[in-house]
Order: sequence, then structure tokens, then C-alpha cells
Amino acid sequence: MAKKKWWSLIGLAVAATMVAGLVAGCGGGGKPAADSKEIKVGGNLELTGGIATFGQSTANGIKLAFKEVNAGGGVLGKQLVFVSADNKSEPSESTNAITKLITQDKVVAVLGAVATTNTLAAVQVATDNKVPVISPTSTNPKVTYDNGKTRDFIFRACFIDPFQGTVMANFASKSLKAKTAVIYTDNSSDYSKGLTEVFEKTFTELGGKVVAKEAFLQKDQDFKATLTKIKAANADVVFIPAYYEEVGRIVKQARDLGITSPLLGTDGWDSPKLAEIAGAGALNNGYFSNHYSPEDKDPMVVKFVEAYKKEYNQVPDAMGALGYDTAMMLVDAIKRAGAADPIKIKDALAATKNLQLVSGIVTLNEKHDPIKSAVIIEMKDGKQVFKEKVNP
Ligand code: PHE
Repeated sequence: MAKKKWWSLIGLAVAATMVAGLVAGCGGGGKPAADSKEIKVGGNLELTGGIATFGQSTANGIKLAFKEVNAGGGVLGKQLVFVSADNKSEPSESTNAITKLITQDKVVAVLGAVATTNTLAAVQVATDNKVPVISPTSTNPKVTYDNGKTRDFIFRACFIDPFQGTVMANFASKSLKAKTAVIYTDNSSDYSKGLTEVFEKTFTELGGKVVAKEAFLQKDQDFKATLTKIKAANADVVFIPAYYEEVGRIVKQARDLGITSPLLGTDGWDSPKLAEIAGAGALNNGYFSNHYSPEDKDPMVVKFVEAYKKEYNQVPDAMGALGYDTAMMLVDAIKRAGAADPIKIKDALAATKNLQLVSGIVTLNEKHDPIKSAVIIEMKDGKQVFKEKVNP
């Protein structure tokens, strides 16, 4: 008996060590062999599921950037290899995806996820394994900074929601002269809840009044009961900080019910699927904040739009641009680090300065956030029309 116990204890210890080894990778993440001719980079992306167009565009942007860099000789004489993992637009799958990328594929950095909730679900694994993550598009402040501390291994290439929410509150109050607003929040998304707070605060400070706040959940199909209440509130604008699948259904049903006021949103609206789901006409009198516009005449934007169109036969949306920019941020950091070593890359990323990218010039502050401009897009007969650029 005693003997058996002794052996099972050893067995347990061995198993625990193996699990720890698996989870922790080789500390410092995927250390490639010193003579490796490749640098492996992971993508933790929403390739299927509720926001699949976001993940796919991001992957397209990253691949285009790597192709250009590799054609020019690579980084530090090595070719970049992109290994993507599908997080299916779900937080638990995002944790699985990043674990696989780090422990099995031994990537030196991970690009993604797109959605705040999915990036947050990857933070612990990245931090434990000491592998840097750059989110192209997760805009919630908590992604890189929480509880008064910057998360050492997490970075982003986009502006944050306090800026984007303020931009839209200003637009409602100053450009549209709105005095009253209703906010319709996706309660399953950290992104949506954060934006709700910022919009309400800024709009109120500007003298406006939020007359009603309603909520829904991702995957909801029928919004009519709540939209009937929203219609009765008769506000000057309705703010819907959410993702295109639900926004599309909401906009369609809102117009069917006779809500004619301007509908306002944020970067989660930016998908070719939006007009397909809502209908082009329903989106008229709709405006949202975004990271870039393909109509921008900046030479770098023009060059990028041309290259992307040639490669994929479509106009790049903001995720395409930010995917490209995120990849270029990493390339810049690896060059300055002088080695494809996760910890050196993380230090170099934190020092990113005056880097000219498609979506603007990136200098990271101490919270790992770039301070960048936003654009406001107007929906006109299903097409995105550049309305204005707002500097921070
Ligand atoms: N900003 C969103 C988030 O943080 C994701 C997103 C980015 C959506 C860009 C659309 C376009 O969850």
C-alpha cells in the first residue's frame, strides 16, 4: 500500500511538471533554433464565427505585409512565416488558440485578437509564457492597462475607446446638434459596455441628455420589443456601439419600425456584411467612427490600397489596414531588437516611436497605446463615405 502511494505521488509530480512545461512553453516562448532561417509569428484571429470578416481582413493585411517584407529580404536576413489559429470569435477559443501558437508552433509573437473580449482572454497565457501580443484593433483600455499597471507583454496598434466614444459624442452634439440620445448596448461585450460609459459621460458634459439605455446580447435575432421602447423615447440620435452582425439586424428592424433618427456607431460597424444584413437604404443617416478611410489621399494609404486590391481584389477595410500596420509594428520592433527573441521584441515594442503606418503615425505611450486620429464614416446607399478626420 505504502509503496503504491509513493509511486503515485511521483507520477503526479512528473505529470505536474509536464503540464507546467507545456503551459509555460520554454519560458520566453518559442525560442527558435539560433540558426533558423525563419521567424514564426502567430495570428490569434476571428477567422470564423460572429465577426469573421474582421479576422479574415486582419489576416489579409498581415499576409500582405509579410509578403512585402519577405520580398525585400526579410527581417534580420530571415523570412517571416505566419501561422494563424482560428479563435472562432469566442473568448475560450482565443485562450486555446494562443496556447497552441505558443506551445506547439513556438511563435515569437502573436498578432490578434481583434475583439477586446478575445484579446483579454489571451492575456494570461501570453504573460505567463513571456510572448508579446499586439492587437490590431482591440480598443478597450483594459487590454493593455489594468489595475493601475501596464501589461508588459500586451500592445495595440489602434486608438482606444475613450477617444472613439468621445469622437462620436462630439459628433452627435456638435455636428448633428443632438440634445437627446438613446444608447443600445451589447451586454456580452466589454467593448460595447466601455463605449456606453464614455459616450454617456461626454454627451452629458456637452449638455445632452441620455434619455434611455437599453441592452441586448450577441446572437440575438429579434430586437423589436426593445426597439419599440426606443422609438417611444423619441431621441435625436440612437448610439449602438456594437459589431456588424447585430448592428445590421438592429438597423433593419429599427427602420422597419419607423425609427428615422440618425443611428451612430463605432469601429465594430466596419464590415461589407453590414449593408448586406441591414439593407443599404436602412443605413442611410448612419455614421460611425473608424481607424482609417480608403479614400484618404495620404501617399502611404494610396499605395497600400492599391497593393491590397491587387492581392485580394477588394478595397481594404480598417481591419485590413490595421492588420498590415500591426505586422509592420512587429517588423520594426524585431529590427530594433536585433534578434527574434520574444523578450527583446517586447522591450523594442514598448519603445515604438514615430512609426509611419497606413492608419497614422504610431508612438506608444507608457500604457502601450498609440495616440492616433479617427475618421467618421457616413453610410450612403450602402457605401462608406469619408466624412471627417478627427485628431486627438
Ligand atoms: N474595436 C473592437 C473591439 O475592441 C474590434 C473592432 C475593431 C471591430 C475594428 C471592428 C473594427 O472589440
